[in-house]
Amino acid sequence: MPLDIQSPSLCIGIVGTGAMGRGIAQIAAQAGIRVLLFDALHGAAAGARETVIGTLRRLSDKGKITSAELAAAAAKLEVVARLDQLASAQIIVEAIVENLDVKKQLFQHLEDIIAADCILATNTSSLSVTSIAAGCKRPERVGGFHFFNPVPLMKIVEVIDSLLTAPWVSAALMQLGQRMGHTAVAARDTPGFIVNHAGRGFVTEALRILGEGVTDFWEIDRIMREAAGFRMGPFELLDLTGLDVSQPVMESIYHQYYQEPRYRPSVLAAQRLAGGLLGRKTGRGFYRYVNDRPEAMPAAAVPVTKPASVWISPAVPAWAEGVRQIAARAGVAVETTPTPGGDALCVVTPLGADATTACLAQGVDPRRGVAFDCLLEFGADKAARRTVMTTPLTTTAMRDAAHALFAADGAPVSMIRDSAGFVAQRILACIVNIGCDIAQQRVASAADIDRAVTLGLGYPKGPLALGDALGARKVLAILEALQEFYGDPRYRPSPWLKRRALLGVSLLTEET
Ligand code: NAI
Repeated sequence: MPLDIQSPSLCIGIVGTGAMGRGIAQIAAQAGIRVLLFDALHGAAAGARETVIGTLRRLSDKGKITSAELAAAAAKLEVVARLDQLASAQIIVEAIVENLDVKKQLFQHLEDIIAADCILATNTSSLSVTSIAAGCKRPERVGGFHFFNPVPLMKIVEVIDSLLTAPWVSAALMQLGQRMGHTAVAARDTPGFIVNHAGRGFVTEALRILGEGVTDFWEIDRIMREAAGFRMGPFELLDLTGLDVSQPVMESIYHQYYQEPRYRPSVLAAQRLAGGLLGRKTGRGFYRYVNDRPEAMPAAAVPVTKPASVWISPAVPAWAEGVRQIAARAGVAVETTPTPGGDALCVVTPLGADATTACLAQGVDPRRGVAFDCLLEFGADKAARRTVMTTPLTTTAMRDAAHALFAADGAPVSMIRDSAGFVAQRILACIVNIGCDIAQQRVASAADIDRAVTLGLGYPKGPLALGDALGARKVLAILEALQEFYGDPRYRPSPWLKRRALLGVSLLTEET
């Protein structure tokens, strides 16, 4: 490698000093790297330098860094007024406007200025790094260096190999990311790279569930937070990011993959974008915001009733026993006959199927049948919230009795309409499946996919570890049931998942 990334005299140029350029400048300066800042907008680079120094000062005031560290980092930040003043930089990172032609022009222009072995790195999140590189005289020096906003807090950078990138360039960017204190993960140049690609399952499946009228958006958020352990529900996330940002990303990845149904966007989001309901930034997205706080959403009161008795599907014995204990704690008698009799509330425990299909398959009258989601309730990460769904025919009395039964020990309960795979099962299965297919496409190693997703998306687990925790065979069963029910190739299992489930090995297993 012609470059010593650990050198105390390493110098990088940053072109475009907006939100991303500033963040990259901060972590580079804190890592002792000389940073030359350039922006096409007059005064913007100087303003960015002041902003970064202000941030460092606040960190120093809070005792997070010493005043000596503040002074050392501040001294590393230099503003340049012209592009040709970047001639001494060994690596240039661009964080300018997301436009292919403008980025190509910038790199072509820089090639006339910089040294022969200077690396050109792009922070693009949606453009092809190969396309940007293709416009250069020396495309092998161009690589992707994709940070996340806010850069100092999102401690992950994707290093993207274009089809034309030289191995020493990717190696240097990996080392640079690490020197800046970030976890660097290597990815091939594919739409969405790792993190934005892996993020497709969570939100698009939640939008589908909402679009089917299964339940309200806030109930989906509650289930994903309190049952599946996500920090934020999908609709809270959409409101935070803003539909003006997330809808174009959903559409771009979908179209770049030639209408791959796994990434299909939702008409609901497109309409809301057209209506200006962008999210927090406009005061109204899915939620309405007052002083940046979401309005409180209603929760159905627990009915004051009790089932006369309960019949529990014996299909999965461990789950049947779990439900029996819930019934016992609620003081409700349990029928032990193989098929339900009398007027008992009937509880089925499907994996991937809906309540209707599960009831009919087990000879249960759909008017007194409900389905209870056992996957998380009795899984590795115990759910705090329970999900119960009705068939289209479940009587109000049986629905209320089921709600009261599952809430009797104080657990919050989401009562939803019929849905193959409830809410959590189908969203989690989509996340795992897409993560598996990223591995199958060799976009990145299985371990890097999980690292990138936990750091970049804040999920409680990476998609592959999540699949292992749920059980790869169970995830496969959910997807197969969803595919059968909907007839939609969206749910077809990735070969990566299918083979590892059949072999009974971890989804993190690479091929020998
Ligand atoms: P921004 O709009 O905050 O900043 C862009 C800066 O580049 C502005 O200061 C602008 O004056 C300057 N600029 C535009 N064209 C220029 C040119 N030809 N030469 C020099 N300076 C130019 O944008 P932001 O959010 O910082 O994004 C920058 C890049 O980073 C984009 O490619 C974006 O896709 C990517 N990115 C953005 C993320 C985000 O969450 N904002 C996350 C990851 C990547």
